[in-house]
Amino acid sequence: MLSSDKVTPQLMITVGTAVIGSLQFGYNTGVINAPQTIIESFYNETWSSRFSEPIPQTTLTALWSLSVAIFSVGGMFGSFSVGLFVNRFGRRNSMLMANVLAFISAIFMGFSKLAASFEMLIIGRLIVGLYSGLSTGFVPMYIEEISPTSLRGALGTLHQLGVVIGILMAQIFGLESIMGNSSLWPLLLGFTLLPSVLQCVLLPLCPESPRYLLINCNEESKARSVLIKLRGTDEVSEEMEEMKEESQQMMKEKKVTIPELFRSPVYRQPIFVAIMLQLSQQLSGINAVFYYSTMIFERAGVSQPVYATIGTGVVNTAFTVVSLFVVERMGRRPLHLIGLMGMAVSAVFLTVAMALLDQLKWMSYISIVAIFSFVAFFEIGPGPIPWFIVAELFSQGPRPAAIAVAGFSNWSANFLVGMCFQYIEQLCGPYVFIIFTILLLGFFVFTYFKVPETKGCTFDEIAAGFRQTAGQGSDKYSAPEEFNTLRGDDPDL
Ligand code: GLC
Repeated sequence: MLSSDKVTPQLMITVGTAVIGSLQFGYNTGVINAPQTIIESFYNETWSSRFSEPIPQTTLTALWSLSVAIFSVGGMFGSFSVGLFVNRFGRRNSMLMANVLAFISAIFMGFSKLAASFEMLIIGRLIVGLYSGLSTGFVPMYIEEISPTSLRGALGTLHQLGVVIGILMAQIFGLESIMGNSSLWPLLLGFTLLPSVLQCVLLPLCPESPRYLLINCNEESKARSVLIKLRGTDEVSEEMEEMKEESQQMMKEKKVTIPELFRSPVYRQPIFVAIMLQLSQQLSGINAVFYYSTMIFERAGVSQPVYATIGTGVVNTAFTVVSLFVVERMGRRPLHLIGLMGMAVSAVFLTVAMALLDQLKWMSYISIVAIFSFVAFFEIGPGPIPWFIVAELFSQGPRPAAIAVAGFSNWSANFLVGMCFQYIEQLCGPYVFIIFTILLLGFFVFTYFKVPETKGCTFDEIAAGFRQTAGQGSDKYSAPEEFNTLRGDDPDL
């Protein structure tokens, strides 16, 4: 192990501060699940007092689906804008600036009840979605750029750990006895203000990404001193050399724009892989669970659906920790494959359990187990890996554009699931998860044939791998082991 492969306190504090942004994303993903019925009554009351008649059921479903899914519309725009910020203001300052959005959204959502306006709640969800979209680009990019190569996967998984802890917090705070009741729900939504305040206090104490300082700003001595602090040793010359090589490589390329990602044969393959991995994460159906599990558990005959929902949050967190510890040993590809297959099998069990519920009451327990295992397998691979692997698949030049495209794909698919799930569920009943099973199997096949292993490779080696495979024609690319041997060492390293 290199001396620079240590987890130093400075590195942990810096990563910990960054992932407050991930926590915010998770919190706002999970927060509207448990109090659905309570907030729906607020919509109904507001509607009745304005129009002197109860809200029609179809309008309520539409308004609720919109409140859930507009978060992802914000996410789509936010993630797509990542490139506008990161090179102009730097990685750290971009994260700092984004908090303005979290403040504004907290005010909109927190005061929506007082103002008797569901529109304010919906706008607040859009703005916090914008913030979350930016975070899903900024945070993994920053973490990947400050981490030593051998720890990139583990530290990258901390972004997802932040997300899942945020979801769990939202589920617990959403209990009726805490804030998920008719008087305190505005506080539950407005809570998002506090992590932002904390991040604004801590971020100025964190360094800028040394890669950004060296490669984008040509500030060699600043980059070196940040690296010395992060690594806790003066011996950073090897890593500085590696960054300089990447920088030289980058000077040969023009600035990479989004259309160029698709036009250039060197980037076309990795951007395709990046997009498919994002789709595999969202079209797995995970957010059908995190947006609607309380409703799904109700349908499955579970008597205390809110507690089952919290159970999903606990399983979710526990298995992200498992992934954290195995990702550097097992690599990205095997974990993603295991995760997708496990989710597909769990979805089949869930479908069987839901279909037989009327005949066999105990099937509700099977459905709980099936949902728990669905979530557990998600966190083994499809949860954490797509978020950080995009930063690994691209070097400094194309990275911001690639992260924007990948993030946009992720959020668009997230929107699709959030918006359509309730309708498809009304249409297909217990068979709704079969759709996800089919998609999961498709993504399994894709990952098997097309996704390379990036464990232990430097950014430059990964980029060189893609350059070489592009030169060999796209057919060659399909053998991932071959990609890895481009490093000239053992693919099982
Ligand atoms: C991932 C997904 C997010 C999902 C979460 C569940 O971060 O991007 O949409 O809600 O995992 O843990």
